[in-house]
Amino acid sequence: MPPAAGIVEVKARLADARAVTVLTGAGISADSGVPTFRGADGLWRNYRAEDLATPEAFARDPRLVWEWYNWRREIIATKRPNPAHHALVELEQRVERFWLITQNVDGLHPDAGARQLSEIHGNIWKVRCTQCRQVHRNRAVPIPILPLCPACGGLLRPHIVWFGESLDPDDLDRSAAAVGSCEVLLIIGTSGLVYPAAAFASLAKQAGSFVAEINLDPTPNSEIVNVAIQGRAQAVVPELIRST
Ligand code: APR
Repeated sequence: MPPAAGIVEVKARLADARAVTVLTGAGISADSGVPTFRGADGLWRNYRAEDLATPEAFARDPRLVWEWYNWRREIIATKRPNPAHHALVELEQRVERFWLITQNVDGLHPDAGARQLSEIHGNIWKVRCTQCRQVHRNRAVPIPILPLCPACGGLLRPHIVWFGESLDPDDLDRSAAAVGSCEVLLIIGTSGLVYPAAAFASLAKQAGSFVAEINLDPTPNSEIVNVAIQGRAQAVVPELIRST
């Protein structure tokens, strides 16, 4: 389907829908200048995210992992939500049942005003104690290394779901329910490679939802969805949502 026809169809579906779920990935934040994970700009000192965002890497060298997070915090602290983030807030306010599932940890959706969301991979501006497990907000840039828990003195780690770790079961239930019961699922800026989010397109299709993908490049999801629109999130998403 040519992009213009895809846009018209998704707009029409969104205009009628009373239950909409949205899944976002690093591509939506790329338009705010946040490096994606699998793009060349996501590398730090030649480490890949998969080498650093693991419990094993943190156990081996917490200082190195925190240095990487400080580098990411410094970048993200200067970034602002873009028109795609803002348009999704408009959609949230308009639709009867809305849920946003983001794999992004940059906090740009809540910064834009999103309220009905699961940050299924955590949030870079939160820390968790490895001893007492308390979670705190922490916007220090840079964070002093090694950071210690204000409550018990234990070592703090980023409140982020790393490779090899499980998602919070409540987040997972909430997200699966939102994907399985929506009329329209929008999948924006994710490579569709990391589970469980990678399974959401099929899950929604099986449940009879209309599924649309907005991505700069084709992904494994492109074959599954009803409409795949190739383009930048910040250009396409506002067009889909506004003036419908
Ligand atoms: N607009 C739309 N899509 C874009 C844009 C843009 N401006 N820029 C990049 N993209 C697309 C890329 O083509 C790619 O398909 O966004 C996708 C980003 O993919 P990844 O970098 O793999 O990010 P994501 O899918 O969010 O990664 C999932 O993997 O590393 C882990 O936990 C981390 O949450 C992350 C998860």
